[in-house]
Amino acid sequence: MSAITIRPERDGDEAVIHELTEAAFRDMPFSEGDEQDLVDALRNEGDLTLSLVAEDGTRIVGHIAFSRVAISDGTRDWYGLGPVSVWPELHGQGIGSALVRRGIADMRAKGAKGIVLLGSPDYYGRFGFEHDPHLQYPGPPPEYFQRLVLDSPAPNGVVRYVPAFG
Ligand SMILES: CC(C)(COP(=O)(O)OP(=O)(O)OC[C@H]1O[C@@H](n2cnc3c(N)ncnc32)[C@H](O)[C@@H]1OP(=O)(O)O)[C@@H](O)C(=O)NCCC(=O)NCCS
Repeated sequence: MSAITIRPERDGDEAVIHELTEAAFRDMPFSEGDEQDLVDALRNEGDLTLSLVAEDGTRIVGHIAFSRVAISDGTRDWYGLGPVSVWPELHGQGIGSALVRRGIADMRAKGAKGIVLLGSPDYYGRFGFEHDPHLQYPGPPPEYFQRLVLDSPAPNGVVRYVPAFG
């Protein structure tokens, strides 16, 4: 595979991102199969704070989204990571990791104070994400809700995503 480059999404990428997200999550047991609609809704509602695509020189091979979150203690400038998607046949080649690392760097440059996500601790721990019992997201098993503090102090409260997340 050629070298991967990462860039912000631009007009015309929407359909490929939709297809890619649908394909990436299709066989995931935890997925309800609507992540592609979530990305569209975030975009339509003006809540896609950062949307990056990975390209291999000929086509889009991965995508990552970030959107703001609210925290009940009033902490500002925190964001949610996700969904992140790579074509199934290209998993395990470092594309997802490259998107996460670039996404974190870009969000830091935008002034983000921290990032939360819902995902596998085995995967996201490598980027510095960890579960913090003081930051809660009701519903899923707590250890799957993780945070990365970019600028302390760490918040203390309940996290709410933008309406597109339902
Ligand atoms: C998660 C995803 C984006 C990772 O992209 P990728 O390009 O395959 O990831 P990388 O090649 O950078 O990293 C691969 C590593 O992640 C691990 N990994 C990938 N998905 C994982 C998961 N759900 N749970 C635990 N580990 C996972 C692989 O086992 C591999 O581990 P290793 O480096 O120790 O061998 C991709 O697998 C994907 O599109 N999955 C379907 C959608 C999804 O689950 N998105 C995340 C939830 S929002």
